[in-house]
Amino acid sequence: MGYNMANKTVIITGSSVGLGYECAKNIARANEGWFIIIASRNKERNLIAVDSIKKETGYDDIEQMELDLASFQSVRKFATEFKAKSYSPLQGIICNAGVHYKKETVLTKDGIEATFGVNHLGHFLLVNLLLEKMTPPARIIFVSSDVHDPTNKTGMPNPKYQKPYDMAFPKDKIISESTGPMRYSTSKLCNIYCTYELSGRLNQQGINTKQKPITVNAFNPGMMPGSGLARDYNSFSRFMWKYILPVLTLIKPEVKTTKQSGKALARLLLDKELIETTSKYFDGYKEKTSSIDSYNKENALELWEESVKLVNLKQEETILKL
Ligand SMILES: NC(=O)c1ccc[n+]([C@@H]2O[C@H](COP(=O)([O-])OP(=O)(O)OC[C@H]3O[C@@H](n4cnc5c(N)ncnc54)[C@H](OP(=O)(O)O)[C@@H]3O)[C@@H](O)[C@H]2O)c1
Repeated sequence: MGYNMANKTVIITGSSVGLGYECAKNIARANEGWFIIIASRNKERNLIAVDSIKKETGYDDIEQMELDLASFQSVRKFATEFKAKSYSPLQGIICNAGVHYKKETVLTKDGIEATFGVNHLGHFLLVNLLLEKMTPPARIIFVSSDVHDPTNKTGMPNPKYQKPYDMAFPKDKIISESTGPMRYSTSKLCNIYCTYELSGRLNQQGINTKQKPITVNAFNPGMMPGSGLARDYNSFSRFMWKYILPVLTLIKPEVKTTKQSGKALARLLLDKELIETTSKYFDGYKEKTSSIDSYNKENALELWEESVKLVNLKQEETILKL
């Protein structure tokens, strides 16, 4: 297997456990020369993940770097450290980390509502800072969710896109049962806005070309009961999520294991046929249209422009014209 033969690098956020971990394992198993960076906030959990992927696959080109998407300082530090290392060319960023809070409003280190802060803003900043290191052919993938689309009837509240400032600093600090899940669905809609807007900008600014593709796509893994995403649920819901709902994978095709969806996510990086595919939404292996609202260009533009302000992104920090 691998043995330090890597000739390209992929960063996977939130890959210490769950979907990101399974995706990393599949990339290792493919043995195609990727240097894999497990980028999550907890060094110990990251190291355990690196170790276990090495043991399970025999693939050695894998390392961890600490990244806390709930801190703009940590994201900037990660980017600076990454740029200082002499890794193989960066050809993939998989924005997978995600949080879902049910009980209370959690804030990032910068005082921003954490669902919006981690799921959208942290990734927005990370990708912008790393764009200068991306070497074509390269791929950026945002992990979204079918909960972004009200027609999917997932049982989650519909997303409620608001002015980005109001999503970052919501007035309702005490939240009802549905506020946290609504914020989660909304953050997954923001992932799709960000996918389409970034892809459009890369095209318009001549950074993504047929000869030198840098593509951006969104991914829905489907419901994956048993993953760590329900860690903030009450004990009954956590029990259902962990032990009862996984049975649904046997009878409902839209319910998946992290292993199954990890493979489908890795494929968006690995499949040679997708080298030029950009600005698309993938439901597992299948390209589909995303929700009607997700194609609202005004919202996508507003989210982009306001995100620049919220993360305090300076023109000299990114190769994109802001
Ligand atoms: N599970 C589902 O049913 C489902 C359905 C649709 C979409 N998704 C999406 O799939 C993605 C992965 O979800 P999952 O179910 O695999 O979740 P998970 O098991 O909870 O894993 C989340 C990962 O994100 C990391 N993370 C959390 N906060 C972070 C932060 N501030 N900075 C950096 N990393 C952070 C976690 O690291 P720690 O180990 O440090 O906590 C963990 O590695 C998410 O984007 C989620 O929205 C999930």
